Amino acid sequence: ASMGRASVCREVNSWSNSFFGQHLQGSNGQKARLYLEKRQISQETAKAFGLGWSPDGWNNLKSFLESRGFTPEDGVEAGVLSRNERGRIYDRFRARLIFPIIALSGAVVAFGGRVMGDDEPKYLNSSESPIYTKGEHLYGLYQARTHITRSSRVLLTEGYLDVMALHQYGFENSCGILGTALTKAQVKRMAGLAREVVLIFDGDAPGQSAALKSAEMILQAGLTCRVLILPEGEDAHSLLVARGRQGLEDLLQKTTDGLDFCLKMLSTNKSPGETMKWVENFITHFKDLSWRSYYIPRVAHVLGLTEKELREKFTPAAQKTPGDTRVWSQQGKGAEQRDREL
Ligand code: CTP
Ligand code: MN
Ligand code: MN
Ligand code: MN
Ligand code: MN
Repeated sequence: ASMGRASVCREVNSWSNSFFGQHLQGSNGQKARLYLEKRQISQETAKAFGLGWSPDGWNNLKSFLESRGFTPEDGVEAGVLSRNERGRIYDRFRARLIFPIIALSGAVVAFGGRVMGDDEPKYLNSSESPIYTKGEHLYGLYQARTHITRSSRVLLTEGYLDVMALHQYGFENSCGILGTALTKAQVKRMAGLAREVVLIFDGDAPGQSAALKSAEMILQAGLTCRVLILPEGEDAHSLLVARGRQGLEDLLQKTTDGLDFCLKMLSTNKSPGETMKWVENFITHFKDLSWRSYYIPRVAHVLGLTEKELREKFTPAAQKTPGDTRVWSQQGKGAEQRDREL
């Protein structure tokens, strides 16, 4: 009987996962175990995240999958083997530390792999497959889920090691974006579990502009957002290694409100006209007028304008609101209404 393509992919990923996991434990995984030790990732954390090691060579996983009854093409479709221009199929992950990406169901759907030296690319991911679309998953969400629902808060960070270090140091409601820009699908996933997202991003320029875009999306999904930009040169992992749990606790006491962060970033880096364009777009994005009446006074306050002055800066189209225009002036009601909606 022929299995569905998705279920073949799930099986291939599951077998690949045990293959990588066993190689991390085996004698040729010692280099990788030492690397984890050097990066201060404990064995317990490595186990909780199901880390593995892909041995060097072109055919190790390929042969293993064949011995389990899969074709090389199955491995390509599942995203763990690659095919070159001449049609030859080979192991996609060679001599890399392996991070399984796990769906909320607990199924391994893809892998990330890190070189242990300075080779490029530093990270490599599975290709997309019937069970894995880039930007749909959050790294560590499977492990963080109960902690997120319990606290109704997500600590959202950038990379694999950041997430693992956060868990290791007791911030277990953490998950990671995995390189690309935050997507709507990822925001939706968090919105289903929590009311607040705390961004913990690198202090470099890319980290800051990623935080701006992410905060905007999170606020527009009706979530509360707070932002922690780490000191220059640090990420969550390096900061925890250097300063320990208390070091991050201290910084988490001084997060910036998401909207304040956006407006500050904009007014520092953009022209007043561009900032106003952003504000207008941000406000009009909310079709629910109670949200608009919640945000208008707040934006006006941060920009040092009266509400009337702010509204007058909007283009005529944005000043015209759908439905009952009185809502624009219902001050004070916004926050209450918002709390009820959340
Ligand atoms: N990333 C990726 N591909 C790359 C670079 C980065 O997918 N070529 C993703 C990974 O999920 C990575 C995250 O973006 O964890 C953050 O990137 P970066 O800060 O460069 O790496 P770190 O996670 O800090 O890795 P390390 O500490 O090992 O250098
Ligand atoms: Mn960075
Ligand atoms: Mn790092
Ligand atoms: Mn980093
Ligand atoms: Mn809501």
